[in-house]
Amino acid sequence: MNLKIAVLPGDGIGPEISVQGVAVMNAACEKFGHKVSYEYAICGADAIEKTGDPFPEETFRICMNADAVLFSAVGDPKFDNDPTASVRPEQGLLAMRKRLGLFANIRPIETFDCLLHKSPLKDDIVRGADFICIRELTGGMYFGEKYRDNDKAFDTNIYTRPEIERILQVAYDYAMHRRRHVTVIDKANILDTSRLWRKVAKEFADKYPEATTDYMFVDYASMRIIQEPGFFDVIVTENTFGDILTDEASCISGSMGLLPSASTGEHTPVFEPVHGSWPQAKGLNIANPLAQILSVAMLFEYFNLTEEGALIRKAVKASLDANVRTPEIQTEGEPFYGTREVGAWIADYIRNA
Ligand code: IPM
Ligand code: MN
Repeated sequence: MNLKIAVLPGDGIGPEISVQGVAVMNAACEKFGHKVSYEYAICGADAIEKTGDPFPEETFRICMNADAVLFSAVGDPKFDNDPTASVRPEQGLLAMRKRLGLFANIRPIETFDCLLHKSPLKDDIVRGADFICIRELTGGMYFGEKYRDNDKAFDTNIYTRPEIERILQVAYDYAMHRRRHVTVIDKANILDTSRLWRKVAKEFADKYPEATTDYMFVDYASMRIIQEPGFFDVIVTENTFGDILTDEASCISGSMGLLPSASTGEHTPVFEPVHGSWPQAKGLNIANPLAQILSVAMLFEYFNLTEEGALIRKAVKASLDANVRTPEIQTEGEPFYGTREVGAWIADYIRNA
């Protein structure tokens, strides 16, 4: 296969983990005989400094031209501490989602047995947890009409039936290849948007009698996710609830540095770590590249290149088992490995497999 990849390293630790993602991509393409080419583009704080725009037109063009985007992270404390800043790096991420029509954000939550003790939850609660959150990504309060003056502000939470239907379709497509269990999370006891979600979801449930569908209020769901994560298979929810619940769920696996994600929809799909730009660690060679590397596995799987994805996952697991780990997940008494060293170990493993 020929793959044209847009690489958006972004800010903070982004560029360092991006290099490792590309190295692993190259190793897998070599191994399986794929031709891959890359076009690099700027975004986030880096792009604001260079062009004034966190998602410049040229970056959009490069993304549209590619088969997939390998994205790393955006964000810089310079902007966080300045509430008057008129442009922020995060707006680049929102612009990318909106302009590429990426309405589905897929965040798998898996555990690695050798890292269970790193989770703040008890081993027997998290062992075997394996679910995916399907978060609606281009609607709701993030993009609804907004207003702010000195004394009043609002963000409109708005959803239309087609927006709800297409994200539910993604959820059921995943569920049918998994344990056929969909949990629709909403606040239908209070919100009209949630009532519409639930109505449309009930219609889907009727269309998929072979799947189990249940409905949960978001407050209860947030408790259930940490009390009994093993209950869930496929979660589907609106943009804001999904943002909050996926950060919560990321605790289950022991480190945010392990979680990849895919955003798919109308145009080029984007593959990126769930974690942010961790500016304090920039250039220190300590950031965990695994979430980025697992995003590459998701990228292959998106194109039905399942063997490639499986080999990357196997290599990641082997690196953990061999204690080739960055500081935040290393076993006591074992030496720390850097971002580069972990990436190189995994790329070698793939080449020699
Ligand atoms: C995420 C992030 C983003 C979001 C921010 C950086 C805009 O928190 O991808 O979850 O809120 O969606
Ligand atoms: Mn978030």
